[in-house]
Formats: sequence, C-alpha cells, structure tokens
Amino acid sequence: MGMSPVLVACLGLSALLLIGDALLRRTVLSPLNGIPGPALARFTSLVLKWHEFNARRTAYVHGLHRRYGPVVRIAPNEVSFASAAAVKEIYCSGGSGYDKTEFYDLFKVYGKRTMFTTLNKEHHARKKRILADRYANTNVVRQPSLDGIAERAANFVKKCSQSVGGSLDLYVHLHSYAFDCVTHHLFHPYGTDSLQTEQDEAIMREVTFDDSLQNRLVGYYSPTLHKVLGKLLYWLAKPRQTPLADNFVLGTCSKTDAAPFTLLDRMQGPSSDLDQLDVAAECLDHMVAGIDTTGDALCFLMWELSQPRSLPHQARLRAELLANPGAAFDRLPFLDAVVLEGLRCFPPIPMSLPRHVPRGGRAIDGYAVPEGTVVSCQAYSVHRIDQAVFPKPEVFDPDRWLHPDGDAERKRLFFAFASGGRGCVGKHLALAEMKVLLRAVYTSFTTLPDPAMTAESMDMSDQLISSRPLGQACLLAFSPATSQPLSTD
Ligand code: HEM
Repeated sequence: MGMSPVLVACLGLSALLLIGDALLRRTVLSPLNGIPGPALARFTSLVLKWHEFNARRTAYVHGLHRRYGPVVRIAPNEVSFASAAAVKEIYCSGGSGYDKTEFYDLFKVYGKRTMFTTLNKEHHARKKRILADRYANTNVVRQPSLDGIAERAANFVKKCSQSVGGSLDLYVHLHSYAFDCVTHHLFHPYGTDSLQTEQDEAIMREVTFDDSLQNRLVGYYSPTLHKVLGKLLYWLAKPRQTPLADNFVLGTCSKTDAAPFTLLDRMQGPSSDLDQLDVAAECLDHMVAGIDTTGDALCFLMWELSQPRSLPHQARLRAELLANPGAAFDRLPFLDAVVLEGLRCFPPIPMSLPRHVPRGGRAIDGYAVPEGTVVSCQAYSVHRIDQAVFPKPEVFDPDRWLHPDGDAERKRLFFAFASGGRGCVGKHLALAEMKVLLRAVYTSFTTLPDPAMTAESMDMSDQLISSRPLGQACLLAFSPATSQPLSTD
C-alpha cells in the first residue's frame, strides 16, 4: 500500500521547512551578518571557490580586504581577518591558537597525519616535542649544518658563473638549491645534489611542477563528484603523483646512520616513539615544505632585486657584503632587511591558514564569532592592509625594516612564517638558506631580468597553500659585479 498523498505532502512540507530554517539560520539570521563583506558571501561560497579553482584565491581575498577593511566575511561560514589583534587571537591564544580545519586533510602523507596536518593541539604538541629540536637556531647554525648550506650555495654560484653572457632559470635552480639544502638537513649524508645531477633534479621537478590543484580541490569539496568523474577528471586535472619523491624518502628513511644534526637521526633516536612510516611521512612533509617555500621566496625576491628600480638596493647590499666578509650571515642588517622585505611583499604562503573557532565562540578583532566558524588570516593582506605600519605597502623598500620607530608593530604584523606554536618550524633553516645564498650571489654578481621575461609570468599563481610564479620560469642575466653595471634602459 502506497503512502497517502496527505502524508507525502506533510513530509515534503516538513522537509522544506527544515531546509528553509537551516538556510535562514545560515544566512538571514546568521550571527556573522554584522561582518562586512559582499552580499553573495552570506549565501554561497561559490565565488570564493571559483577563485580558488582559478589559482587566484589570495588576490580575491585581498581585494575584499581593500574594499571592506581588515575583517571580511568571505563565505557563509568563513571570515578573513588582517590585523595584529586577529593574528594573536587566532594563531597564538593558548600557545598554538585555534585548531586547524579539515582543509589540512589534503596534506596527509602515506595516509598519516604529520606534525603539519595534525588538527588537534595535544597531538601536535607531542610531535613538536620530538621534532622541534633539530630546527632550533642553535642546531641550524652549527658548523656541519651551515657548511652544507654554504656548499650548496657555492654550487648555485657555479651555475650563475656558467650563465654569464646568457641567462639562468632561477625558478628551477632555486628550487634545486632549496631541495638540496632541506634534504641535507633531513638526511645528511644522504641528501640530494639536484643542482648537479639530473637524477635528483627529476625528483625536484616532480614536486615543484606538480599541477594537481584542481583535482585535489574537487576531491576535497566533493569526494562523490571526484569519484563519479574518475578517469575523465584525470585528463582535465591531474592528481598529485610523486613516485620519485616517495621512493627517495622511503629508501633514505631506512638508513640508520644519518648525521647527528639531522631530523632523521632525531626521529630514530630514543626520544622518539614514531614508527618507520611515521618517520618517512614526516620527512616527506618537511622535504616538500622546504622546497617550494624557500625556492619561491628567493625567486620572487631576486626577481624584484633585479628590476632596474631595485638596482640601488643591489648596490647597497653588495657594499655591505664586501665591507663585512667575515661577519656571520645573520649579523648583516641590510641583508636582513632585504630578506624581511622580500618575505613581506612576496610571502610564499600568502593565503588563508584556516582555523575553527573553538567551542563557546570567541571575540575576534571586536566581532563575536560563533564556534565552528572558519577563520583565518592571510600573510599577503596582513602585510599590506595597515598602512600606518607599512606605508606604501606595494613598494619594495628594505629600509622600512631599519627604522627603530614602529619596529614592534612591523614584527607583530610579519606573518610570512605564521605565528604561535603552529608557525613554521623550519623558519631558522629557511632564513639561513636565503641569507647564505643571497650573500654568495650578490657579493659577486649583478642581476637583471632577461628581456624574454614578462611581469605577468611572475604573477602569483596560488596552489593549495603556497603560491608560485605563474610562468614557472624566471630568467635572469648575471654579470660579474666587478664589470660595468648593465644598462638599465
Ligand atoms: C621561506 C620559507 C618558508 C616559509 C615562508 C614557510 C612558511 C610556513 C607557514 C606560513 C607555516 C604555517 C602553515 C599553516 O599554519 O598552515 C609553516 C609551517 C611549517 N613549515 Fe614552513 N616555511 C618555510 C620553510 C620551511 C622549511 C625550510 C621547512 C622544513 C625544513 C618548513 C617546515 C614547516 C613545517 C613542518 C610546518 C608545520 C609546523 C607545525 O604545524 O607545527 N618550512 N611554514
């Protein structure tokens, strides 16, 4: 016997009412309605997702900040902030801030949660207790660690010398440099030599030229669609596949005699309770975290330094380097200012780092935000919105870091490595790599863009969390610094 039409109508009406009620709560009655933002963002996240799929999320969110201010509702359940108060509350309250969202599931390795992908604070703290020691500045600046970086910087300089009279693709070679440096820190003596061997360069290329953004986003937002589209999606948007990198890390993690300063040594030591797959997952994660970030940071920065408008900065940097040949790399104020300004203007992780508002809700930058809301800051906007702290934010001006006035405010808004307990554990290593390389290059060379390059090819192209130059190439012309400066016409 079928259901009576009256019952069907009642069920239908109830369903409609329930859906309507949920929609009303989410939209018209949402406590987020007092937050500025585009009207459409109250009802749908489609516009945000559209920009995400087109690798332009950061620029879209930044455009909203410019229009609506430091607090913007970017989707029905998502708010972006760009103030020091919000950075402190979201990323530093209670030490490591609010819990990460499921977005980080996208970065699981070998099906495992690593320190980076762990969502829960306590689990994270346990992992960090084991790993952080190897990334402490005291460990990074020890001779065996630093010697490895200097050796790789020398390999890079060899490439610059060989390119004189032509051009060098920085994008490829800086990623190789970052790869060789990070694997030295993870695995020495089993690190890579991708600046000099094709076999290792192939591993770097597999990671760096990955084009899986759209495929992974479909998998994240709609696992069912991902399944249904199956093979078709494979042809439209490739999945992430890194067999060379996987094999390299799995093979290397089976060694048991890595140098004492390495992460592998630490994870195999008595203070670690990680099993072999955990160790490999953690190493692969750090390896990948260390390639694109440092590689892109240096690439965007050297591109900027090579613009004719920046030649005075190059000259001043060279003067400081030549005047202080014996100084430690971290005792050179202008070099430090150049690196900070590079990371301010071109943070390689420029986009939102999403977190869930904890139970009970919180007040963030003057707004009451209910529990479960996704909140975030993005470095690109945090570094630009407050023009009292960063006047003329679009101008690359290392000098701004040398004024004693406003130093504390600038540091509070410096978010390239994020902040708090979940900020970048590799920060000291990355800074050492950047400074050692810049010193080696700009002591000896002047750089200018190759005429074949266009500004558009260096536009930001967002990936899942980091951003890279759109053209994935950055050709620079190197000339020995002792020769006449190149014409800037
Ligand atoms: C200029 C270079 C780098 C930048 C700008 C950078 C930036 C960041 C940022 C913004 C985060 C926080 C991400 C989030 O909350 O979602 C992060 C986390 C992390 N970074 Fe870096 N990073 C750099 C280099 C490195 C290097 C060289 C390594 C390792 C060798 C590394 C390893 C990590 C790890 C393991 C985490 C997760 C930390 C945690 O959850 O406790 N990073 N990095």
